Amino acid sequence: MVVADNLSNSDASVIDRIAEITGVRPGFFCADSAEKTAMVEIFRAQAFDAVIHFGGKKSVPESVSEPISYYQNNIDTPQRSATRWSTPGSRR
Ligand SMILES: NC(=O)c1ccc[n+]([C@@H]2O[C@H](COP(=O)([O-])OP(=O)(O)OC[C@H]3O[C@@H](n4cnc5c(N)ncnc54)[C@H](O)[C@@H]3O)[C@@H](O)[C@H]2O)c1
Repeated sequence: MVVADNLSNSDASVIDRIAEITGVRPGFFCADSAEKTAMVEIFRAQAFDAVIHFGGKKSVPESVSEPISYYQNNIDTPQRSATRWSTPGSRR
């Protein structure tokens, strides 16, 4: 398992907690899903069976004050990235 997170709403110590709880240390990349170069590097580095996008923002007040930012982060970037995320070996 590999985690890519820009740490905008988290801390890298979460990876230690996942390792403690599950006994498996995931790979970790500090990267923003909107950064094409970073995403391409991650997908070049290894093949994935599946990709799950959890990198959404979810603060209701912030979504009202920054609607464009929320649209870009939660809708536009995942939609545009989906084709880049589907590598030859990945079916999901
Ligand atoms: N928590 C729930 O019960 C729940 C239920 C249903 C749906 N969801 C949805 O799942 C998504 C994640 O929810 P959560 O509770 O895990 O939120 P969370 O804030 O705990 O986790 C989201 C993670 O995504 C990262 N992130 C945000 N934008 C990013 C970007 N552009 N690039 C890389 N990383 C980015 C943040 O740093 C954070 O670690 C949200 O869209 C939320 O609406 C959550």
